[in-house]
Amino acid sequence: MRKVPHRSQPLYEGKAKILLPGPDPSTLVQHFKDDATAFNNAKRATIEGKGVLNNLISEYMFQALSEIGLANHFLHRINMREQLIRKLEMIPLEVVVRNIAAGSFCERYGCKEGTVLPRSIVEYCLKDDKLADPPVSEDHITAFGWAHPQEIDDMLSLALRANDFLQGVFRAVGLRLVDFKLEFGRSVEDNGDVAIWLADEISPDTCRLWDRDSQEKLDKDRFRHDLGKVERAYREVARRLGVLPSNSALKNSGAAKKSAAEKNGKSSESIRSVE
Ligand code: ADP
Ligand code: TMP
Ligand code: ASP
Repeated sequence: MRKVPHRSQPLYEGKAKILLPGPDPSTLVQHFKDDATAFNNAKRATIEGKGVLNNLISEYMFQALSEIGLANHFLHRINMREQLIRKLEMIPLEVVVRNIAAGSFCERYGCKEGTVLPRSIVEYCLKDDKLADPPVSEDHITAFGWAHPQEIDDMLSLALRANDFLQGVFRAVGLRLVDFKLEFGRSVEDNGDVAIWLADEISPDTCRLWDRDSQEKLDKDRFRHDLGKVERAYREVARRLGVLPSNSALKNSGAAKKSAAEKNGKSSESIRSVE
């Protein structure tokens, strides 16, 4: 029987998720909120049902990655908004993989949106909203001690493997994986061995997904650029992947969205960093 995590104070509330203690110290409960932000928190809104859809889509992606042996933090889904994950020491980087030019890449390099890149490009950004997640080089990463050279190698190879695999998963349901952002964390074994794991989430919040035929955007760009029908886009991705919950399940989980964290009297004072 699965252990049911006890309910206690959130450890951390981020822009889209809340982290709570898991049933044992090596785990966390990751709770997906309906909150959406863009441009480093400058733009905010609530997208009803987003948390449920991202929880289910991310579960699907991490489970599929586990099946090909790609080390990741996902343990199991607890309910419609929560999943149990391995607690990691997070590496403060956003690793972005790009297959097609879009977003900040077009602005930075003067590239036309939609240009297929000659090969997949991996970029590293410092995860820091106040600094607007600036792009950083491997030199920055090692000089500032955010990750060791071996850890960068591990992240790069995991990111490229994930890209190959996820492109195929999305292609099979008529979606183009334009680009996406990954986060990684490390675990330190008792014998001192360090392992790098894929963490956080994979969802339309963190991926650009375009319909193969119409090129319609089915991801958070609909929110970023006021394209409308945001929730419909997330639902469509879930539907194509076969993880769309019934309307009643979605509604019930909407009503129950104040489940874990909120029920426990979350307040800004009670929230602290996981580390
Ligand atoms: P943000 O912190 O950018 O606002 P979220 O709202 O998505 O982002 O919050 C989730 C937080 O959990 C992120 O800061 C992310 O780095 C962190 N995180 C993701 N996976 C793990 C993990 N396995 N262990 C510890 N922290 C994690
Ligand atoms: P960008 O083009 O805005 O740099 O985004 C690249 C990809 O990374 C895109 O799929 C959106 C995703 N992303 C996040 O998940 N979080 C972020 O904070 C940013 C800036 C991008
Ligand atoms: N990091 C951005 C924010 O949280 C999110 C994004 O544009 O995807 O505001």
